[in-house]
This record gives sequence, C-alpha cells and structure tokens, in this order.
Amino acid sequence: MKLGFIGVGKIATSVIEGIFNTKINIKEIILSPKNRQNTNSLRNKFKKIKIAKSNQDVLDKSNWVVLSITPKVGKQILKKLKFKKNHIVLNFMSTIHNQELKKIIFPAKQIFKIAPLPMIKYNLGPIIIYPKNKTIENFFNKLGKVISTSNENENKKLWVMTSFMATYLEIFNTAHKWFVKNRINQNKSKEYINHLFRALNNELIKNSNYSIDKMVKEFQTKGGINEELLMRAKKSGIFKNLNKGFDKIYNRVK
Ligand SMILES: NC(=O)c1ccc[n+]([C@@H]2O[C@H](COP(=O)([O-])OP(=O)(O)OC[C@H]3O[C@@H](n4cnc5c(N)ncnc54)[C@H](OP(=O)(O)O)[C@@H]3O)[C@@H](O)[C@H]2O)c1
Repeated sequence: MKLGFIGVGKIATSVIEGIFNTKINIKEIILSPKNRQNTNSLRNKFKKIKIAKSNQDVLDKSNWVVLSITPKVGKQILKKLKFKKNHIVLNFMSTIHNQELKKIIFPAKQIFKIAPLPMIKYNLGPIIIYPKNKTIENFFNKLGKVISTSNENENKKLWVMTSFMATYLEIFNTAHKWFVKNRINQNKSKEYINHLFRALNNELIKNSNYSIDKMVKEFQTKGGINEELLMRAKKSGIFKNLNKGFDKIYNRVK
C-alpha cells in the first residue's frame, strides 16, 4: 500500500506514529510538503516516509489518500487537484461529508469518513468509520477500537463525542490544580488522579452491561462526600450545559 497524506498536522502525525507501532504492511507513506517541522521529523524517524513535491505529487504517488487538512483548507485546495478513479480516500475532515466531497474530488468515489483521535499514536481509542467496509476496518482495527456504521446520521452523532477530549482532560486538570493549590506535590497529584480515573474507567469497562445510572448511585454514600460534590456540580448546571454543548456540536457536525 502507498499511503499519501494531504495535511500533516496533529492528527496525521499521530496516525503515522500509530501505523509504525503496528505490523501493518506499508510500502511507502508520502507526505504533502507543508509543515516542514512535522514532515522532517517524521522522515528522520521512519525510513518509509517520503516528502512529496506538491499536493498533486502526493495523489500521483499513492493509492490510498488521507485528507487531513482542516475543512476550510480542504474547500480551498481540493477542487484544484486531480484525483484518480481508483483512489481510496480517507476523509478526516469533521464538517465535509462524503457526498459533498465526492463532487469535489471526482472521479474518485471510494470515500470513507474516518475519525481517528490523537491516542491512535499508542494504538488506543475509538475510530469511527463510515460507511462500513471490511478492508478499511481491517486496516484501522490494528490502530484502535473501530466503531463502524453505514448509517450517516449515526456517524454524525458519533462524531459529536470526538469533541469531548479537551473537556475530559480539563476535569482532570481542575482536580490537579486544586491539589497543587493546596500544596500537594505535582507528581503525587497526577499519580493519584491517574489511578482514580483509570480505576473508574475500568469499572465502566468491566461492568459494560450494567446501568451507568445505578453505578453513579452506588458510588455515593447517603450524606457522604461523593453525594455532596455531585449535588453541587448538578446545581451549578455543569451537566445541563454539557448536554447543550453536545447539541451545539451536533448542529455544527451535521
Ligand atoms: N485533531 C483531532 O483530534 C482530529 C480528530 C478527528 C479528525 N480531525 C480532523 O483532521 C483534520 C486535521 O486536524 P488537525 O488537528 O491535524 O489539524 P492541524 O494540526 O491544523 O493540521 C492541518 C495541517 O494541514 C496543513 N495545511 C494547511 N494548508 C495546507 C495545504 N494547502 N496543503 C497541505 N497541507 C496544508 C497545515 O500545515 P501548516 O501548519 O504548515 O499550516 C497543518 O499541518 C481536520 O479536518 C480535523 O477536523 C482531527
């Protein structure tokens, strides 16, 4: 497989690092020349990386093409490029859907919308694939947990939660900053919170058939400190606002 990347930013770099952590059989990875810092660092690290002369050169040299530019850049540059009929196109762009893309990159029509996340670098995290396809799923199965769908509305809803990463980390950060403000050593703070979050995620994974509502109740003692913090958080409107945020993101993604 000759895999080309148009756009070599944060997510493309994580995907490439992730690929080289697996035994996926890749002949060559061809990178678009913009963002020299990322392209040079990848080329210095991995033998199979080539930097193309132009975006068109990427397309001419690849059979699978990853579109990993922002939607705004995609709308500006893709119409000027010549795609091949048999290109397999992996569309990472959050707000450009396959139907719209098909018109822009004709005659290429094998298009898959993919949502990898930065944790793919360590071959972890969910990867949304739309529509379902065995070859594409086999490729990404080695890079993380594939969640595939052939229902476009479902695909758009799944994409909403890709917006949750920074907010999740900020919850961790809030706990960490509280510890540090109260003179807990940085390492001890991170160690405690890492283990707390990891163990709670483990509860969710191990009890995946169990009601999460019930689990939330079971992690509170009547009149205890978990009950108090949750009550205060609810009163502040944090969860209602998070829900409204998901709705807003859905409107943007759909
Ligand atoms: N980050 C995520 O977790 C994530 C997850 C799923 C999907 N996505 C999607 O993946 C896409 C890329 O996201 P990102 O986070 O990787 O953004 P990013 O770090 O900003 O990467 C975009 C890259 O495109 C390059 N670029 C700009 N103009 C270009 C051109 N004319 N030709 C070729 N490359 C060009 C930029 O280079 P310069 O820096 O030199 O301008 C930059 O390195 C977005 O559509 C996003 O919606 C991201």
